[in-house]
Amino acid sequence: MAHPLEQLRDDALREIESAGDVQSLEAARVKYLGRSGSVSAWGEQMKTLATEEKPVVGKLLNEVRNAVSAALDLRAQQFRSQKESASLGQIDISLPGTPHEIGALHPLTQMWERSIEIFRRMGFALADGPDIEDEWHCFDALNTPPEHPARTEQDTFYLPDGRLLRTHTSTVQIRTMESTPPPIRVISPGAAYRNEEIDATHAAQFHQIEGLYVDENVSVADLKGALEFFMRELFGAGTEVEFRPHFFPFTEPSLEVYVRSKALKGGEQWIEVAGSGVVHPAVFEQVNKARGDKAYDPEKWSGYAFGLGMDRLAMILFDIPDLRLFAQNDLRFLRQFA
Ligand code: PHE
Repeated sequence: MAHPLEQLRDDALREIESAGDVQSLEAARVKYLGRSGSVSAWGEQMKTLATEEKPVVGKLLNEVRNAVSAALDLRAQQFRSQKESASLGQIDISLPGTPHEIGALHPLTQMWERSIEIFRRMGFALADGPDIEDEWHCFDALNTPPEHPARTEQDTFYLPDGRLLRTHTSTVQIRTMESTPPPIRVISPGAAYRNEEIDATHAAQFHQIEGLYVDENVSVADLKGALEFFMRELFGAGTEVEFRPHFFPFTEPSLEVYVRSKALKGGEQWIEVAGSGVVHPAVFEQVNKARGDKAYDPEKWSGYAFGLGMDRLAMILFDIPDLRLFAQNDLRFLRQFA
């Protein structure tokens, strides 16, 4: 003969299965599993059973409780999916969906990524530094004396506390050498800021890729080789590169880099794209002072550095007439590079 608990289970399962709505399902749950429900009542009765009966009935009671509880869950789930498909029934699945606009990289970012990829192949690692800098990293350490015109408020944005927005990414040269002994081969893409009169070719924020290579016996020839390779990878094999003497306080000799290429305005003119040079020994001395050692002994180590103007390169390469377009977020402009 079936145990009364089995009878109870069968009744419960039948009732749960035939529950027609959420309310009657809840009523069934209370009736069987509620605090004073009949399955729970059996738990109370366990105390009165003979010792040898307890394990058998206890096991059965567990099975019954589990079966009832599983049946309740299943029925509740059925109600939920019924409700869902009822609401989906209102939807016309043949209607076209809302199209997602696929984004694209900003032309400057594209320029950056192409450039970084080329330098990576040449063994350059990425380095980083802050946009808000102190005078020491931006000027003093780079052999730029206090009276230098770049340090005036006409040229540089100063914060009230004396810090400033870096006027070039050359600050990362210093930061990298402070934290890492030679040899060094890094590039650092980033923003720089100058207090410019803003027009089609001048912005208060612009973008550079700084490069620094320090090793034994680095010469101008290495600098020229690296930048020529870079320009030809970027603008095509026929690209001509010219180095013209210039002055920067932190390099000696200093060279401006010009390119002429079919890819750039049909190859009609020489276009200035970078400043560069051989790292000035005074820069190594400043770094040594900050490090408190002689890691950058100018007798042993030499290096080259360059700063590539990204905005100009992108303007020329993509034939963009006005620098301000980069920052205006106008989709009609940005879509052209998608
Ligand atoms: N920092 C210079 C500039 O912004 C460029 C430069 C970098 C020149 C490294 C020499 C070496 O104009």
